[in-house]
Amino acid sequence: MKVGVFDSGLGGLTVVHALIDILKGADIFYVADTKYAPYGEKTQEEILKRCITITNFLIKEHEISALIIACNTATSAAIKMLRKKYIKLIIIGTEPGIKPAIEATRTNHIGVLATPATLKGDKYQLLINELFQGRQVLLTEQACPGLVEQIEKGEISSSVTKKMLKIWLEPMKKNRVDTIVLGCTHYPLISDVIKEIMGYNITLIQTGSAIAQRLMSLSLEHNHLNKGLLDIFVYSTGNINDNMINKIFEKTEYYEKITIRKYDI
Ligand code: DGL
Repeated sequence: MKVGVFDSGLGGLTVVHALIDILKGADIFYVADTKYAPYGEKTQEEILKRCITITNFLIKEHEISALIIACNTATSAAIKMLRKKYIKLIIIGTEPGIKPAIEATRTNHIGVLATPATLKGDKYQLLINELFQGRQVLLTEQACPGLVEQIEKGEISSSVTKKMLKIWLEPMKKNRVDTIVLGCTHYPLISDVIKEIMGYNITLIQTGSAIAQRLMSLSLEHNHLNKGLLDIFVYSTGNINDNMINKIFEKTEYYEKITIRKYDI
């Protein structure tokens, strides 16, 4: 089984991390579109164009049968069009985990951190309207422009990153949110810093494992045997921080090898 996964950069590797825990006997082709990152401050048209270019590459060069859009921003901008265009492909997107947050919260005070494009997108607005209907939820939303770039640089807990987060998390602290949705696949990489700044016990919601489960159930329906090891190929269209890749995968073991290649698509 050949699975394509992509994101604007390192963030989608948090989804690959979750895949490693359950998927076996597959090749994962990951594209980190760092030359065109961040997506979160681009128009829908620009993002859609990159999604189509990457999907064409993964189909043509690697004959993938499943595609994971491991990016909330790209899912919001492009999944509808991609599903229309590639009807034979299994396509799984990523969206902010609002539903698990509603299940996890005890106070109904929920925070959402995401890119500006995700929060502005129709998909997110529809999700909120649908899930909050008839519920009394105090929602604190925060767009985090510039945070993806900090994470790409490996500045996970630098003073600049902490300063940005302190400002963005202040309204969440004030509203005593007990659950924060990490609405961008990069943000699980700074979970510890978010917890530290919040300073009290909070639940962070990420969606990597749910995506991995979804891929598993769809691939088993398509006769995937789920035996053997995984090979992971990471392509990056621009610079990528190898130290971060090693850090993301340091505690995982169920794969054969990771090949990292710079490749302009
Ligand atoms: N990981 C992407 C997401 O989930 C980041 C988008 C960006 O490049 O701004 O939204």
